Amino acid sequence: MIVLGIDTSCDDTSAGVVAHGTRVFSNVVHSQVTLHHPHGGVVPELASREHIRNIMPVVEEAVTRAGLRIDDLEGIAVTVGPGLVGSLLVGLYYAKGLAYALGIPLAAVNHLEGHILSIFLEEEVPAFPFVALTVSGGHTSLYHVKGYGQYIQMGQTLDDAAGEAFDKVAKILGLGYPGGVVIEHRAQEGDEAKIPFPRAWLSDFSLDFSFSGLKTAVALYIKKWHKGGVENTGAVLADIAASFQEAVIDVLVHKAMKATAQVGALALVMAGGVACNQRLRTRLREEAHKDKVRVYYPRPEYCTDNGAMIAAAGFHRLLAGERAAPSGDVKSKYLISDLPPLGAPPSYAAHASKRKI
Ligand code: KG4
Ligand code: ZN
Repeated sequence: MIVLGIDTSCDDTSAGVVAHGTRVFSNVVHSQVTLHHPHGGVVPELASREHIRNIMPVVEEAVTRAGLRIDDLEGIAVTVGPGLVGSLLVGLYYAKGLAYALGIPLAAVNHLEGHILSIFLEEEVPAFPFVALTVSGGHTSLYHVKGYGQYIQMGQTLDDAAGEAFDKVAKILGLGYPGGVVIEHRAQEGDEAKIPFPRAWLSDFSLDFSFSGLKTAVALYIKKWHKGGVENTGAVLADIAASFQEAVIDVLVHKAMKATAQVGALALVMAGGVACNQRLRTRLREEAHKDKVRVYYPRPEYCTDNGAMIAAAGFHRLLAGERAAPSGDVKSKYLISDLPPLGAPPSYAAHASKRKI
């Protein structure tokens, strides 16, 4: 089944064409970074207007790059939440119109399920069950993934998401937006052991995260640093960036390994925008290796928001016979625990592609 996936949950207009939830024919992302950059963060009103301008050309390009015609599509999957309401609405209503015009089914997809299943766009995929750490600008969560559509949340952030912390700290440091990439870049020349920023371990048993205290600690440090109060430490901006990044990574790696041990999983998947961070990838792989756990990362293109991962998640829902309600709406908050259970998929032959691929 050839599925077009559409994501307009935040500031990227993206569309991807994927066969059978695994084989990517195309993945087109129109980034709004330059639009939001002067504002130091995403401006929701500007984001939705920009989605309106770009949704049609992005979908057309995804179909063209896939080497297909629009009526070769056999299903559409669209993100309905969580995300910015105005942005989500653009994707949903465009997808509804297109699915109706083409007479093909539409699946309403949870953005987080897209991140979890993005690993299936790669050649090497984990066997179920596995633990997934999703780290993005809006979410930081640990899931026990027992199968398609079977996700048990093990932990989540109690305040800021990891990516949000990167973005806010970059702003505090005057490094601009988006924060993750610039902090990672600056950190490469810094000493990660220079400043002992706090790590919020929470209780011994907790798999939850908290990054707001760390963000405040960096802000206080910067205040003193500007006044020259911490001058004698000799820390430079790169050291602050590296020490902050290390504090985030320590907690993410520790809790991910703890979750994996708790359920005895042999595989760990890390996805979402922050999973692009090379130092985090290396540290997690090193720790996992000690515990004989295999780590899987999607390539960076599939870690940040993209339409292909939504097509992958939507494929399994369409295969199970799930259809978006014509009157269905977007959900700014959409927990994974609110996902409808995935029915047993009907025999594959009934849904096999019309095309030979
Ligand atoms: O998954 P994503 O594209 O969008 C959301 O669903 O939020 O993630 C975007 C987040 C941003 O907060 C960005 O700063 C962060 O991912 N990010 C990174 C890196 N690249 C992107 N964080 C740390 N290191 C990176 N290299
Ligand atoms: Zn995302």
